[in-house]
Amino acid sequence: MILDMTTLERAEAAEHALSEEMDRLVIVKSAIYTSGERDPRVPAPRPPDQGKHYLMGHDPRLAPMPDKPTLFDFYKYRFGPSSHMLESARLAQKNGLSEKIVLACLVHDIAIAGFIRGDHGYWAAQLVEPYVDEEVSWAIRHHQALRFFPDDSVGYRYPDLYAKLFGPDYTPEPYIHQAHRYARDHKWYMTARLLTVNDLYAFDPNAQVALEEFTDVVGRNFKQPKEGLGFDASPSAHMWRTIMWPTRYL
Ligand SMILES: [Fe+2]
Ligand SMILES: [Fe+2]
Repeated sequence: MILDMTTLERAEAAEHALSEEMDRLVIVKSAIYTSGERDPRVPAPRPPDQGKHYLMGHDPRLAPMPDKPTLFDFYKYRFGPSSHMLESARLAQKNGLSEKIVLACLVHDIAIAGFIRGDHGYWAAQLVEPYVDEEVSWAIRHHQALRFFPDDSVGYRYPDLYAKLFGPDYTPEPYIHQAHRYARDHKWYMTARLLTVNDLYAFDPNAQVALEEFTDVVGRNFKQPKEGLGFDASPSAHMWRTIMWPTRYL
């Protein structure tokens, strides 16, 4: 007879199963995760395998994802609470902006939430590019630069938070200045600019915004591949797979 397990017993059993699985695996981090902590000019030592196998699929420490993951599945299993993006999207909606801008707000920082921070606007634009209107990915790409430059015509100031985070003397790299000059003269400038205006940096930790509030906007404006993100052979499919399986050996 199977006795009922208490919650604690179940947690212990799950932890035990995980540690057994971990004992059978060698999990190696990519150079980009360790650069700085170790010198990437020196080849990474190959850990002794002692008969174990190198991980080539799902990392048992992470929540498993559905076979055909949707955009929302990535929010649920890989992007953390994402309150900042959800609140920005809600603000854009409240301000009566177009669905393109609401969607851009909803996804603009997915690279920070689940992929790579540096140049996050470029990474996020590339991730979503095959699935959204060109204007949406253009806006996401250029919020990277526009965040650093004020625009009085819409009341956008240099964020106080940036002065605090990066110091008062911080000035962006020349390529960011160049991207700003280019974006300023573009027909979609205002789309990217409105993304920065609704990109809340002082967000309310108590606000509750559910992903499901945006089901319709995403349904109408994000071409979810039927094979699932990562499996549709799009130009960014491999990036979604890397987010899903960040520690695969090859
Ligand atoms: Fe951003
Ligand atoms: Fe943001």
